[in-house]
Amino acid sequence: MNNSASQPLTQQQTWSQRFESALHPAIAQFNASIGFDIELIEYDLTGSQAHAKMLAKVGIISPEEGEQLVNGLEQIRQEYRQGFFNPGVDAEDVHFAVERRLTELVGDVGKKLHTARSRNDQVGTDTRLYLRDQITQLRQQLREFQTVLLTLAEQHVETLIPGYTHLQRAQPLSLAHHLLAYVEMAQRDWERLGDVYKRVNLSPLGSGALAGTTFPIDRHYTAELLGFDAVYENSLDGVSDRDFAIEFSCAASLIMVHLSRLSEEVILWASEEFAFVTLKDSCSTGSSIMPQKKNPDVPELVRGKTGRVFGHLQGLLVLMKGLPLAYNKDLQEDKEALFDTVKTVRACLEAMTILMQEGLEFRPTRLNAAVAEDFSNATDVADYLAAKGVPFREAYNLVGKVVKTSLAAGKLLKDLTLEEWQTIHPAFETDIYEAIAPRQVVSARNSYGGTGFEQVKAALSRARSRLASS
Ligand code: ARG
Repeated sequence: MNNSASQPLTQQQTWSQRFESALHPAIAQFNASIGFDIELIEYDLTGSQAHAKMLAKVGIISPEEGEQLVNGLEQIRQEYRQGFFNPGVDAEDVHFAVERRLTELVGDVGKKLHTARSRNDQVGTDTRLYLRDQITQLRQQLREFQTVLLTLAEQHVETLIPGYTHLQRAQPLSLAHHLLAYVEMAQRDWERLGDVYKRVNLSPLGSGALAGTTFPIDRHYTAELLGFDAVYENSLDGVSDRDFAIEFSCAASLIMVHLSRLSEEVILWASEEFAFVTLKDSCSTGSSIMPQKKNPDVPELVRGKTGRVFGHLQGLLVLMKGLPLAYNKDLQEDKEALFDTVKTVRACLEAMTILMQEGLEFRPTRLNAAVAEDFSNATDVADYLAAKGVPFREAYNLVGKVVKTSLAAGKLLKDLTLEEWQTIHPAFETDIYEAIAPRQVVSARNSYGGTGFEQVKAALSRARSRLASS
């Protein structure tokens, strides 16, 4: 296939004869993005194939030329997949690397590929194709994460766990209810990514360098070939918009917020002070010096990596804020932020899914006991009185006093005798003991979306059918 008659495109030739001397080697290195934008190669090839087909369709090149280009690009794809395509800094970026190799493979016709196109609309196209794929895979990962949490929740409807506000014991919960809170967060993350996808899936191809092109191109045809929902209406906007990347980073940051909060809880739960979970060997590590230790490295790393995802969001926002229209080389800086965001979030989601699936075990005996050892049933005493006609605020004050005297006496509410209850208020009867038992305390919170067992079971089945329907 090598056409010896044709000179391979050098960087100099690509930039036209205007340039007389080569780049300083350090500047070439500084300028190059090939070290990271090789990540886009499959999308660059796909985008270029669509462009070549369009050029042939509208008659800018012949059908045979179109076919040669498409086949040559396909050959590069195979070379890349087999590990034979490894362009260096001299190629500057993935776009030049592909064009140069194409010309080596198919000869001079390779030099026609870039007709009616600029690297500006090209890189925008590649990045959107890449992100579109990543969003689809991330959404799938979120579904798996939800499925694992939901399965775990289904096993723990009857397991109780202290609920906290201000990290102070507040009211006991069904553990399933606690886990379902994360299923809901992941649901919004999944939906949010679906919304972002709509604005990622627009084609800038055919915007040219900034102003469109003199050739009779068909932008809607390339958009259709590439599966874009629509085209950018304005060429300047098409080549310079990075809102889509920022929006994605924002959605990614929120995923990390959720994963990081769960991480923090797992870390606390695994401590000896809480002892709500045991970490399995498959997901924890030991200390090099303290033989008794088992460390929650996975959630700690997830919590730690959250910072860099936030950092990339900030980086992208600052990158954009002062840029005049249209393309500026600054935009080359969007890629590492985006790629690292994608890789980090995907790795964290995978690790947390494994952790929740097989890396930890809840300790129901310990959890059920924990909720019996505190005053988290105090609200229920007040509710008990209020249900018997005592105004809530009055009941609340009375119970506050009971808690105070009980604490001083080293007693829990369940330890008070009926006489003691009745000296507090004559409305107390023997059913107070049932009313403040942790299981009853949970069960009684039967308002929609609450932790009552009936509500939790209904929520579990809603979450199940939601997963099944998508
Ligand atoms: N490597 C460049 C980037 O990532 C490709 C676009 C270059 N365009 C240009 N006008 N220099 O942004």
